[in-house]
Amino acid sequence: MAPLTQLRLLTCGSVDDGKSTLIGRLLADAGVVPEDLLEQLARDSRRYGTCGDALDYALLLDGLQDEREQGITIDVAWRYFATPRRSFIVADCPGHEQYTRNMATGASACELAVVLVDASAGLKTQTRRHTYIAALLGIRHVVLAVNKMDRIGYAEEPFRAIETEYRALAARLGVAQVTCVPVAAVHGDMLVRRGARMPWYRGPTLLEHLETVVVDDPATTAAFRLPVQWVSRPDAGFRGYAGTVAAGTAAVGDALVVLPSGRRTTLARVLGANGETDRAGKGEAVTLVLADELDIARGDVLAAACDPPALADQFAAHLLWLGDAPLLPGRPYELRVGTRSAVAQIGEIRHRVDVNTQEHLAARRLDLNEIGEVQISLDQAIPFEPYAVSRTLGGFILVDRISHATVAAGMLDFALRRAANIHWQHLDVDKTVRAALKGQRPRCLWFTGLSGAGKSTIANAAERRLLALGHHTYLLDGDNIRHGLNRDLGFTDEDRVENIRRVAEVARLMVDAGLIVLVSFISPFRAERRMARERFAAGEFIEVFVDAPLALCEQRDVKGLYAKARAGQLRHFTGIDSPYEPPEAPELHLHADRDSALAMAEQVVRAVLADDRA
Ligand code: ADX
Repeated sequence: MAPLTQLRLLTCGSVDDGKSTLIGRLLADAGVVPEDLLEQLARDSRRYGTCGDALDYALLLDGLQDEREQGITIDVAWRYFATPRRSFIVADCPGHEQYTRNMATGASACELAVVLVDASAGLKTQTRRHTYIAALLGIRHVVLAVNKMDRIGYAEEPFRAIETEYRALAARLGVAQVTCVPVAAVHGDMLVRRGARMPWYRGPTLLEHLETVVVDDPATTAAFRLPVQWVSRPDAGFRGYAGTVAAGTAAVGDALVVLPSGRRTTLARVLGANGETDRAGKGEAVTLVLADELDIARGDVLAAACDPPALADQFAAHLLWLGDAPLLPGRPYELRVGTRSAVAQIGEIRHRVDVNTQEHLAARRLDLNEIGEVQISLDQAIPFEPYAVSRTLGGFILVDRISHATVAAGMLDFALRRAANIHWQHLDVDKTVRAALKGQRPRCLWFTGLSGAGKSTIANAAERRLLALGHHTYLLDGDNIRHGLNRDLGFTDEDRVENIRRVAEVARLMVDAGLIVLVSFISPFRAERRMARERFAAGEFIEVFVDAPLALCEQRDVKGLYAKARAGQLRHFTGIDSPYEPPEAPELHLHADRDSALAMAEQVVRAVLADDRA
């Protein structure tokens, strides 16, 4: 039999279930706690303990002072211990719902979960939540530790009832292997020693199970994959590709394929941690030298040529939202998978999952700690594997492109072939030809600012002047577009994102048609103005910030909307109860409190003409 590898396990459950006590006692009984720590524990037990004169094993684990004082576990703590038979890394995760992200972080790195329940209370909502998250993040082995058997007189019947109910739940959630162990952590029964009080139980003790369980790691037997972390070129004569092998093994002479380019080559040399070797296996950090000189960059994947991963740019995926601001479909985020980055948009939230009941609920956004099944599309095709096959090539994070905060952890489920059969049709007449005929440089003048700042008035006057000068133009105005194309959209953040996405696409088509397009939308968010900008070639997008103090807009209140918003009759009104993020570097900054609308329109026209001469 192959030697047992290190086991990474996750413990979940709450203080009430006795989680800290269970781990503390397990470590102490397994004999892995040094003498001085046990002495410290005796002192701490007298000072903070809840077990009278006996040792309070929970204190062995609660490293954080404020945790002790509040009596709760608040973060993922990684602990390492080893018995003569096996070594373990334990992620101890908090139980409360607001710590879903911590639990997911722990679960994504573990192979087995110990889920605790209190025998006297039975399965709880949080038992279901923990099992769901563990299964979602790819944990295939679960131990249900039915604790506090002492409270129910060490009786078999209630234990079996809990076991039956839990097995049904685990099967529904796709957990491959479940082992149920009755324990009394305070007394140590069935942790390391069997004790004498549960002769009816014939299964392994908790430690025995952990020491002997064989966790199947598909990555060890799977085909070779190495996401390139960096290209090593110390001199012109050497080029190596460094990274950690995510799955499988490759030997010198093996045929490899580079993705996404699809170029084939042969593995020539392997440089490992201890010098040159002839093969690279899962988990090893290596530098590979290839037989051919190819163009390979960070983020590319080197794979076994006979069994490469697929390429795709649209996916069904599960997302755990970690951002304080909600997920907004249509907003671009940076996606990082393996060593690769791409720009991602969530097209649609299929449903949100109630983590407590696993019910599917309709949703238009995801808030902190919510989990949803979404459709995601990227700006490029990436090599990938479903998360169930590879955590490295199927697990991803989303990063906010402005704050750089991590806003989601996700799992790719499968590729959507939706766009695969739709090709780009080449057309003979293009933008250059259309523009030449009109004798102008097509451009998008994007007006942003508060409602009532004067955007539409200025854009309107500027269009008249441009027309008089012989230009071909079109004005897309927020209020007007919302009567037609965007009549289905309101003013929530998610609707505004979609509002801008659509108008940016329309503006791009019009620029492609050779027009000078004036877009007059509040467009309050930086992320969407950036998305609009990225739709255009360099120099085509001119952001015009119509800067008017809120007080001025409110005083004008041409449409009476500010009065309504202040009176609470209109919700999500920009500047009142919905934010406006001013541009940081607009091409043109107009000051509405200083200049007249006509003067500002003139500035816009001058900017266009100056650009024409340049
Ligand atoms: S945007 O924020 O999505 O870019 P857009 O420019 O399309 O807004 O529409 C703004 C216009 O809708 C405003 O000029 C105003 O007349 C009207 N309006 C109605 N309700 C609101 C609201 N809650 N917030 C802002 N504008 C509103």
